[in-house]
Amino acid sequence: MELMLKENALQGKTILVTGGGTGLGRSMSEAFLKLGANIVICSRKQDVIEKAASDMMQQHGGQVLGLACDVRKYDEVEKVIEAAYAKFGGIDVLVNNAAGNFISPTERLSNKAFDVIVDIVLKGSYNCTLALGKKWIAEKRKASVLSIVTTYSWTGSGYVVPSACAKAGVLALTRSLAAEWGKYGIRLNAIAPGPFPTEGAFSRLFPEAATKLMDPKKRIPLQRYGEHHELANLACYLVSDFASYINGEVVTIDGGEWLYGAGEFNAFDAVPQEMWDLIEKQVRGKG
Ligand code: HXC
Ligand code: NAP
Repeated sequence: MELMLKENALQGKTILVTGGGTGLGRSMSEAFLKLGANIVICSRKQDVIEKAASDMMQQHGGQVLGLACDVRKYDEVEKVIEAAYAKFGGIDVLVNNAAGNFISPTERLSNKAFDVIVDIVLKGSYNCTLALGKKWIAEKRKASVLSIVTTYSWTGSGYVVPSACAKAGVLALTRSLAAEWGKYGIRLNAIAPGPFPTEGAFSRLFPEAATKLMDPKKRIPLQRYGEHHELANLACYLVSDFASYINGEVVTIDGGEWLYGAGEFNAFDAVPQEMWDLIEKQVRGKG
């Protein structure tokens, strides 16, 4: 993974990445580690998170603490923070990355299925943000929170309604606290990715039976999925001191996908080039 920031750009920082053992969380954690940060990763599956931490240290050197934690449980979040403070003397950056999601018509969901997604995404994010924010304010630490949302945080989306509700909440949390906690030197920002291939997301959101009917890449003007290094480099910048005046921002990284879906006439891409003469004639013919 080629990184944009210079070597040791994140040295001296300790970064907690929820869900940092897999997918985009893992890629961001590796990038932060390569730039000199101490890393704390947490997720529910103890074996996965511990193996991810040891693999990362073996591959890149540095310090990675992997801890089992369900972000829905405030006491477990507090324990992770305590362990990180004991090992590294503090935490400077929180990345709210842990999530749950699956594709489903909303009327097929049980109330528990709705709860599970909202609890992981929204409650998990506010649990971590609140627990760390209290500590940061008390110790007067300049710190930041980066939350991974999605482009449907503001457009909404059918078939992932619990996730859309929860991610919209995380975006509201980001913008609200950017305003409230800026005075303490705490910045809150978000990244809104379009599709980036990960096992976790693609197995639950783009199952083969559905993608046979429609190709998600066709909705993306750049005609490809995102690459992990593209998102990881953006995350490195936003948590670094180079972004010290960026607060309350949400940066979209989706190859133009959501605007393509929103633009009234973008579907005219389906018109073959040779048909434009005929169309122009018909339009001009109307005077
Ligand atoms: C309908 C479902 C379901 C499905 C689970 N449920 N899967 N309902 N359709 N496909 C229901 C269950 O029946 C149960 O309700 C309730 O949801 C909880 O399910 P459990 O399996 O008991 O929960 P749990 O083991 O905690 O697993 C949580 C999970 C799972 C969210 C369901 O998918 C998970 O662990 N996900 C973590 C990783 C992840 O989702 N990554 C993707 C992030 S991508 P009942 O009533 O039966 O008890 C993303 C944005 C992508 O967020 C945007 C792309 C552009
Ligand atoms: P992923 O690999 O499935 O990541 C989700 C992580 O969250 C897993 O490591 C999972 O680990 C952890 N997690 C789930 N529930 C948890 C809980 N209760 N407590 C603690 N950790 C929990 O999927 P991903 O694609 O990398 O997603 C990462 C982030 O990017 C998510 O916020 C997602 O919404 C966002 N995103 C992804 C895409 C994409 O296309 N990939 C697009 C837009 C946004 P355990 O199972 O071990 O708990």
